[in-house]
Amino acid sequence: MRFKFTLMLCWLSSAWLYAQTPTYRDPQKPIEVRVKDLLSRMTLQEKVLQLNQYTFGKNTNANNIGALIDDIPAGIGSLIYFGDDPQIRNLVQAKAVKQTRLGIPILFGYDVIHGFRTIYPISLAQACSWNPALVTAACSMAAKEAKLSGVDWTFSPMIDVARDPRWGRIAEGYGEDTYANSAFGVASIKGYQGAHLSDEFSIAACLKHYVAYGRSEGGRDYHYTDVSMQALWETYLPPFEAGVKAGAATLMSSFNDISGIPATANRYMLKEVLKHRWKHDGFVVSDWNAIGQLIDQGVAANRKEAGLKAFNAGVDMDMKDDIYREYLQQLLAEKKVTMLQINEAVARILRVKFRLGLFEKPFAPVLPDNKRYLLPESRTIARNLAAESMVLLKNNKAVLPLKSRIKKIALVGPMANDKINLLGAWSYHGQPNDVCSLLEGMQQQFNGTQITYAKGCDFDGDDESGFAEAAKAAQDAEVVVICLGENKQWSGENASRSNISLPRVQEKLVEHLKLSGKPIVLVLANGRPLELIRIEPLADAILEIWQPGVEGGAAASAILSGAINPSGKLSVTFPLTTGQIPVYYSMRQSARPDQGRYQDIPTTPLYWFGDGLGYAPFKYGAVTLSSLTIKPGQKIVARVNVANAGNMDGKEVVFWYVAHPAGHISRPLKELVFFEKKEIRQGATATYQFEIDPLKHLGYPDANGKVHLQAGVYSLMVNNQKVSFRLLP
Ligand code: NOJ
Repeated sequence: MRFKFTLMLCWLSSAWLYAQTPTYRDPQKPIEVRVKDLLSRMTLQEKVLQLNQYTFGKNTNANNIGALIDDIPAGIGSLIYFGDDPQIRNLVQAKAVKQTRLGIPILFGYDVIHGFRTIYPISLAQACSWNPALVTAACSMAAKEAKLSGVDWTFSPMIDVARDPRWGRIAEGYGEDTYANSAFGVASIKGYQGAHLSDEFSIAACLKHYVAYGRSEGGRDYHYTDVSMQALWETYLPPFEAGVKAGAATLMSSFNDISGIPATANRYMLKEVLKHRWKHDGFVVSDWNAIGQLIDQGVAANRKEAGLKAFNAGVDMDMKDDIYREYLQQLLAEKKVTMLQINEAVARILRVKFRLGLFEKPFAPVLPDNKRYLLPESRTIARNLAAESMVLLKNNKAVLPLKSRIKKIALVGPMANDKINLLGAWSYHGQPNDVCSLLEGMQQQFNGTQITYAKGCDFDGDDESGFAEAAKAAQDAEVVVICLGENKQWSGENASRSNISLPRVQEKLVEHLKLSGKPIVLVLANGRPLELIRIEPLADAILEIWQPGVEGGAAASAILSGAINPSGKLSVTFPLTTGQIPVYYSMRQSARPDQGRYQDIPTTPLYWFGDGLGYAPFKYGAVTLSSLTIKPGQKIVARVNVANAGNMDGKEVVFWYVAHPAGHISRPLKELVFFEKKEIRQGATATYQFEIDPLKHLGYPDANGKVHLQAGVYSLMVNNQKVSFRLLP
């Protein structure tokens, strides 16, 4: 009897509890049902707060000075968290989930660009690896470190196609090619978001900067972008479409003005293309203060109008401006925006929070540093990715790898014993002490060889007083390794340069050391392609190591010694001189191919996109096609055998390019449509295969984004071969 009574009590209390648990708190319910339920319970003020993002903690980016906010409203939608302590973040989160009426968790965002604490190579370098799986692995580890630091959302990947190396942000994207930006953008989304957004170590990705930011006039940051609809649809939009298809949770609208309508007020791009055509159901955040900047860009007279324009265009969350909080309620009362619009924007943000599982697990796990940062697995990925991103640009008389019999190496230059600059821009939680410098890497790698280090000069300035010591080291050595490059502040946001050569003092150091008569190996660490016209002829070998991250010195030394066979290929063209910009491989043919050249320099760049040497020669067999004709809807398979004819294992990436027949819209001379990298043991042969799907690989968009398929003869180009096939109507 007593037992029955207790059972009854239990049943009653759980029924009561169930009745008290609102639908939106029930993880068994579909997310859309939970969103709808929560929305129906929210006041207007609560909704508007969800549409705002403030900052929290100390911001170390000089471009985005963030104040310490003591009294963050507990109902705020999102915070940019500059700290790395999950406990502090959890304190703020506790306010949101315990002290507000509905307990909506805050979404904590941060710029995890190429790693959180374990810093990987910059994205421009990552693309030179042509190894998307490795990029996924790096992003997955970065997500884990971020999550264990209280971050749920990264403002990454940057998939702005960039063809102007004066623009400092070229470092942050995957280079000049549209397909490469799509492929690596998707690879990084996979890494950040994992199989499910709600997985323990997944964080939400943010595709940025939407759109055409990489096209800023004159390579100046934040600048006007004059871009045709044709260029938008064929060059700048495809990586975003690929990212949306891959499930990217959010996007960031860009700072630039797109031919008169700033991206942050661009209804066509945000509503029509992104939300209607591509059906993206996550949310769009503005870039930092980008809503207020609509005033500077000349499309809004005041903050209120700026807010109206951004909101109506489809920007759901206001990063840092506080304009939505200030004006949205007024704008609603004045009937300039509707409740439906506000509900839609809030629903998008809530959807992402539900997908991340924040309602169930609002607090970040707390672990000691040695359990969350720089784990051996992260370091291994960092080393492999750094090694695969490095590009051997020149290697006369096989001066590299440095022979084991070499007993004396002079290691010279401002980057040789530097740590912090190997990290590159956007590496705030990275620490110089985590970095293996080139000097340290060489000392470990060349055991038994005497390595004499002399700095020679600084990155910049005109102090040549160190030249003599460097020359002495060169005189005593059998080979001179000169490690030059860019200070990490010279690339990244707001870091454009009008001249992309190295400062004159670094060039002079090379000229001075050339007098030693010893073989010169240049090791370059920079965040953009460089103008090397004066120093390339002086070098016997050139290894581009970019800003390679914590394992940079170890990876570069392994390549210099021959322990690793270099396999990186350029993701961006190196102009011969700055005046050649823009120069990129997928240009269109000119009206007079034999004329229109520069009178003072060649028209061809120093190194093309795709260039890069290895230590083992790869021999390509003849490309074969499964059919010489194809119809829309059918597929043909192209194959090529590649043999490793060297005496070292190596990796080779095969690039598949297409050239189109004449049509009503001209096409670039060639376009990358597929690539694949494989390891080929010495003496072995690998078969590479590419399945051509006409719509996907041969279709091209018009200025409205409509994809056309043109019948005619196409060329498929691999290495230096060209085969043709016909697309039938
Ligand atoms: C401005 C940058 O343009 C953007 O890329 C970054 O994500 C935000 N600031 C937040 O730091």
